[in-house]
Amino acid sequence: MKNVVLIGFMGTGKTSTGKALASRIGCAFADVDQRIERAAGMTIKEIFSQKGEACFRQYEKDVVQELARHKNFVISTGGGTVKDPENLALLQQNGIIICLTASLDAILSRTEKHGVRPVLDAHDHGDRRQAIQELLDSRRGIYAQADYTVDTSTVSPLQVTTDIVYYLKREGILHA
Ligand code: S3P
Repeated sequence: MKNVVLIGFMGTGKTSTGKALASRIGCAFADVDQRIERAAGMTIKEIFSQKGEACFRQYEKDVVQELARHKNFVISTGGGTVKDPENLALLQQNGIIICLTASLDAILSRTEKHGVRPVLDAHDHGDRRQAIQELLDSRRGIYAQADYTVDTSTVSPLQVTTDIVYYLKREGILHA
């Protein structure tokens, strides 16, 4: 089976949905951020603060190149992974791209904690809602390139998983 690649903004549930989906459809699971942390031997926060965003994006590109060679994986990306058109093209080669979205309020409540999302923290000059809105606006076109989109604002990762499984079966990607 093709890979199923979850893209979308921070706080849309890519990791929790990815894990649930992989176990539901019997695929391996890979989380791009976790693989970056493993490769660097540091947390995302440490990579950003000690080595900078460019270095983080290079790790991200390396992880995408490695993962795009596989099949039968559910891959949860980071919120900025597909900002790089080469990353998106690689993931599209043998993957179906699913975007998770959420309302501004849902994203705000899921990403309130400072210190774990360096890109959001850097945009936040005291008004987190505005920081999210601006970043969302700048990325909307990127996320719109997905094959299928699920709004996760008011539903659990398990419900999102059911929705994605239905879509994969309907499209003949996943066989019953
Ligand atoms: C980022 C999102 C994060 C992580 C890094 C950069 C972004 O992933 O990759 O902090 O640019 O949106 P999550 O979407 O899993 O929070």
